[in-house]
Amino acid sequence: MGTIDTQLPGFSRRRMLQGLAAVAGSAAGLARAAPAGLTIRLSHVVAEDTPKGLAANRFQALVDARSGGRIAVVVYPDARLYGDHDEMQALQLGAVEMLAPSLSKFGRIGFPEFELFDLPYLFPDVANVRRITQGALGQRMLDRLGRQRLVGLGFMDNGFKHMSANRPLLEPAHFEGLRMRIQASRVIAAQMRALGARPVTLAFSETRRALAAGVVDGTENPVSNFWTQGMHEVQTDLSLTQHAYLGYAFVANQRFWESMSAPDRTLVSEALREALYFGNQIADTQNDKALTALREAGGTRIDVPAPAQIALMRKAVEPVHTGLARRIGTAWLDDARKAIDGG
Ligand code: SIN
Repeated sequence: MGTIDTQLPGFSRRRMLQGLAAVAGSAAGLARAAPAGLTIRLSHVVAEDTPKGLAANRFQALVDARSGGRIAVVVYPDARLYGDHDEMQALQLGAVEMLAPSLSKFGRIGFPEFELFDLPYLFPDVANVRRITQGALGQRMLDRLGRQRLVGLGFMDNGFKHMSANRPLLEPAHFEGLRMRIQASRVIAAQMRALGARPVTLAFSETRRALAAGVVDGTENPVSNFWTQGMHEVQTDLSLTQHAYLGYAFVANQRFWESMSAPDRTLVSEALREALYFGNQIADTQNDKALTALREAGGTRIDVPAPAQIALMRKAVEPVHTGLARRIGTAWLDDARKAIDGG
């Protein structure tokens, strides 16, 4: 199946999405007409051998087993169906039933509070992220997605991001003049500017190509994404900066969700809850495995910043926390800090 997330102008892309929604609508209608069957299309942008890819596949297998094949989850990984440019619109139009975007991608659709997860050095570890994502604050965030006709079903970790380029990026001076690919998050843009780099927003599926072509000089991601995208083939250096978190929210189209019978909704919710638990359990090991594979492959210089360099990085990005507080919402931030150790 071809990727359709790239450079289509907004109008024709919208037309195409409308067309797809019409097709999707009639397909859903057919599925409903056949009393036995239900199909859930789940689109995401990363490779299958990543925490999110594996959790999506686990969800598919659980739903298949528990519904005796009556409910089919069809997973489209690697932005094969939709990518960062159009997946949210595709979901809202009902061209797919579920997505699992990174939390950084909710700000631009009207939920800037999700960008609090992007704040550099906010979280000392994933346990502290979970105080939010698995608690009342996270639930409040998911509930608000209903304002955009989405149902927030649950959060999942990938892990901490690291910087990569064709040189080590261990302290702010190393970022001077670099064009760094980022996700569409104002917080990440401010972080890169604070470090002295120029942020360039690009879809995930376009990143490797842009690095290879020299359109951008570097990027940031957890190692599982770095490795499975083959970013080591187009960059020489990975710096284990662990400067910020990357996680996901699994979301569904509200109309679709409400159209399911109550027992089916319970079956699907339960399967997803278990798949997300599984994803959270394996996220760390997937990132560790990717780092081991990267080391074994050779050819990538892997550096760890010294404590003094980390101190410089932390100091440089401090203004991002104050400068972006109003965009994120000071009340959200206060609640997040209260949930985090020592806050
Ligand atoms: C993802 O993990 O879903 C993609 C992250 C990115 O766009 O960098």
